[in-house]
Amino acid sequence: MKAVAFRRFEPREHKTWQTLFNRQSELRDQQIVPMFARGLRALNINADGVPDLDAVNSKLRALTGWEGVPVEGLEEGESFYSMLAEKKFPVGNFIRDEKDLSYTPAPDVFHDLYGHLPFYTDRAYADFCEEFGKRTRKYLKDAKILREFERFFWFTAEFGLIKTPQGKRIFGAGIASSHGECAYALSEKPKVIPFTIEAVRQHEFRIDVFQEDLFLIENEQQLYSCLNDFEKAYTN
Ligand SMILES: [Fe+2]
Repeated sequence: MKAVAFRRFEPREHKTWQTLFNRQSELRDQQIVPMFARGLRALNINADGVPDLDAVNSKLRALTGWEGVPVEGLEEGESFYSMLAEKKFPVGNFIRDEKDLSYTPAPDVFHDLYGHLPFYTDRAYADFCEEFGKRTRKYLKDAKILREFERFFWFTAEFGLIKTPQGKRIFGAGIASSHGECAYALSEKPKVIPFTIEAVRQHEFRIDVFQEDLFLIENEQQLYSCLNDFEKAYTN
């Protein structure tokens, strides 16, 4: 992890945040699992501009003990999972270019702070991710196993769908923070596969396209309770 001081964003960058936030707000309640909007409110993340990370963190720490940590570049394997184990989530210290809001070369502040941090206000979600980080950390030297843990995180926390009483909703932060992918993920276009740990473990993904295959989680409990079974394959 290369932690850095959180940037002071320029006025035009705050404007980019406002545009991104406002266009995500239109359909948020119809598209995304309700815990996400609750998290935004709890952290006072809004359309005013890039939030003050210290203010967000003081609220988040009080709720679940988690915090966002500004980082330079992309956190990979070893450092990312170690951060999760310590209740830290990396926050990209830049915002995408206003000229193409659909593209960011790496996770930016909108993806991480808007997309991920609200979920960590939820105690069960936060505990699950901490536990996931602790377990993944044990396999950092085994590329094959680590890849399977990466797929698990990818198809749930980044790109998961979930059943709710109101219908299918977005559960993954990677979708929740992408205007185009929100509509796409809930359309008829992607293949939606029932979530099972065996299927997720073996399912390869690409990071440079809309996800053609998405996994549908039955409910939060199904996800939060499956880590023992997921890890069993590596301990027997
Ligand atoms: Fe992400």
